[in-house]
Amino acid sequence: MPVIAIDGPAASGKGTLARRIAQELGYAWLDTGLLYRAAGMIAADDGANPADPVAAAQAARTLAKRIAVDGPSALGDPRLRGDQAADAASKLSVVPAARAALLQLQRDFARAPVAGNRPASGAVLDGRDIGTVVCPDAEVKLYVVAAVEERARRRVKELQGRGQTAIYQAVLEDLKQRDARDSQRAVAPLKPADDAFLLDTSALDADQALAAALSIITDRLSRAVFVSPKVSS
Ligand code: DC
Repeated sequence: MPVIAIDGPAASGKGTLARRIAQELGYAWLDTGLLYRAAGMIAADDGANPADPVAAAQAARTLAKRIAVDGPSALGDPRLRGDQAADAASKLSVVPAARAALLQLQRDFARAPVAGNRPASGAVLDGRDIGTVVCPDAEVKLYVVAAVEERARRRVKELQGRGQTAIYQAVLEDLKQRDARDSQRAVAPLKPADDAFLLDTSALDADQALAAALSIITDRLSRAVFVSPKVSS
């Protein structure tokens, strides 16, 4: 079962890229950031600090139970795309026990990916630690980067497109803070896996990024047929 792991910093375009790769290949897609956002909002809605280790672990376990019962609709809250959820997720994701509570969910999805209600022939997961921790054996690993100023410009455009006010300088500072928190935490920090392909999208639009990613993926998957011990006789 091919697994495509896509990691990178906030607003690097990895989510859009992962969704479109899954669409192109007919694979199922899991936005793992949404899990952290949902857990962060459970803590925030309880009036707890998502950075508090006990509250964070409890919220992540609650989310895992909700997903087991309700499936993907447990991730359907429209607030999860907003800044409050992003901030709560970034804080909660520093807590090792919260990460541990979300790990099995992600691995289960990679092993038996489902799109809609149907089993899919492969999985695309995007996040921060997919290639390093969640799916270290993924057939293809992409690490998507873009200059922080370019990411801030894209985020401002996206927010304005949704009719929200966005100030470039504030968005830039927020991204820098999240980058620092994501890459400096002790557990599963944001970093490329040793065998990840680096994809710099600073000068690429979404279509160009997709074309570049698909070319890496198809090349890697065609080789995997020859080198995979599972298929050699
Ligand atoms: O990708 P995103 O912006 O939705 O992620 C929100 C936060 O969740 C991010 O700041 C860090 C955390 N996260 C993580 O630690 N590990 C992942 N695999 C995905 C997200």
